[in-house]
Amino acid sequence: MTDKIRVLIVDDLPETRENVRKLLQFELDVEVVGQAGNGSQAIEAARQHKPDIILMDINMPGVDGISASETVLKIVPTAQIIIMSVQSEADYIRRAMLAGARDFLMKPFSGDELTTAIRRVYENRPQIVPAAAEGSQNNQSGDSGDNRNSDVFGKIVSFYSPKGGAGCTTLAINFAIGLALKGHKVVLVDSSFQFGDTAVMLSQRPATTIVDLVDRASDLDEEMIKSVLTRHDSGLEVLQAPPRPEMAEMITLDYFEQILKNLSEMFDFVVVDTSSALSDPCIMALEMSHRIVLVAQQNLATLANIRRFFELMRQIGFDFQKILLIVNKANDRYGISIQDIGDAMKRPVLSTVVLDEFGVTQAADQGVPIILSGKRGSKVVQSLHKLTDELERVLLKKETADGADAEAAAEKKGFFGRMFG
Ligand SMILES: Nc1ncnc2c1ncn2[C@@H]1O[C@H](COP(=O)(O)OP(=O)(O)OP(=O)(O)O)[C@@H](O)[C@H]1O
Ligand SMILES: [Mg+2]
Repeated sequence: MTDKIRVLIVDDLPETRENVRKLLQFELDVEVVGQAGNGSQAIEAARQHKPDIILMDINMPGVDGISASETVLKIVPTAQIIIMSVQSEADYIRRAMLAGARDFLMKPFSGDELTTAIRRVYENRPQIVPAAAEGSQNNQSGDSGDNRNSDVFGKIVSFYSPKGGAGCTTLAINFAIGLALKGHKVVLVDSSFQFGDTAVMLSQRPATTIVDLVDRASDLDEEMIKSVLTRHDSGLEVLQAPPRPEMAEMITLDYFEQILKNLSEMFDFVVVDTSSALSDPCIMALEMSHRIVLVAQQNLATLANIRRFFELMRQIGFDFQKILLIVNKANDRYGISIQDIGDAMKRPVLSTVVLDEFGVTQAADQGVPIILSGKRGSKVVQSLHKLTDELERVLLKKETADGADAEAAAEKKGFFGRMFG
């Protein structure tokens, strides 16, 4: 029998504590080890009982739940805090998460909601391996042994389109899986922090997301980051977007930058799915990318937007040599040809993915990307494999199409500053 999850209940109202205790009393894997009626008592009880989970009320007289959480985590860093509150505003959630909370329960909650949150947080608690022990434990999952390709120059690659619905997420996912199937160590990052699509398209219900490490921004390490990734059957690892739109604002640019840096040290390729709106994180991702895969379609609106995007890049001195042009939903029957797009953009179209009326969307809706679920001989699957091969070839090259060094291109800072500074 595995150890029980040791829970401490903190709330200033005795009835609430009693209700929560009752909700947990028949759970065989949970043990309530103590109760506290205010922040100071909570700190003392945490010190004494070293609980796995602390259910923490926010509004308490004296030391409130947020301050208590901060102190408790210094004393018992292994404790995982779940905030309980009637307040659901983003600011409360943000402050609680910044104080180190792992989850948030809105009062009143059901027994199911409570136990699900406790088990989820417990199962996904960061497994912090002491540095000395790392060597012996690293290979437990069989995948951390280094099959990393040290000759990769296009480490961070973002999929972007200035026109929504062009197929960025679809291509980013299928490409990332295509690379993983070829044996590369790949992580996909969903940078649409408000309305990320990758979890649905990959049929994942991530228990952990990018938001879970915001309070650890200053001391992120490989083990912590691994603990919030979600593994896909293809071998791809995914850093999913937060579960709720209001959590997006918790992700600061410094934190996001640090995450991307760490991931680029851990993986052969970091594939970032961005959104068409030039949000701050999107710009950050584009700035840090060694290559940007620009997803175009054969219609005038897309071309007009791409032109504006190029113009903006030129004005602010952004290095657009690192842009690779791809056409998605390609079809001969459109008035604008692939050749027209290359001519208009003054660069070659590196690869095209054909329009597939139903298959791609159906596969995404079923949560199994078409590169895995589609017929191998179908045009769309073939074009996705070709896209993977072409991009892989370019990403493994040190130089961009125009002879610029890809690493240096990504190092060039200032886009963001010039745009918003
Ligand atoms: N090659 C294709 N053939 C047919 N449909 C496609 C193709 N690629 C993508 N789609 C469909 O187009 C729609 C938009 O795709 P997707 O969500 O990947 O685009 P996006 O650029 O990420 O959009 P958003 O702006 O919402 O982030 C989806 O329904 C997807 O299934
Ligand atoms: Mg998308």
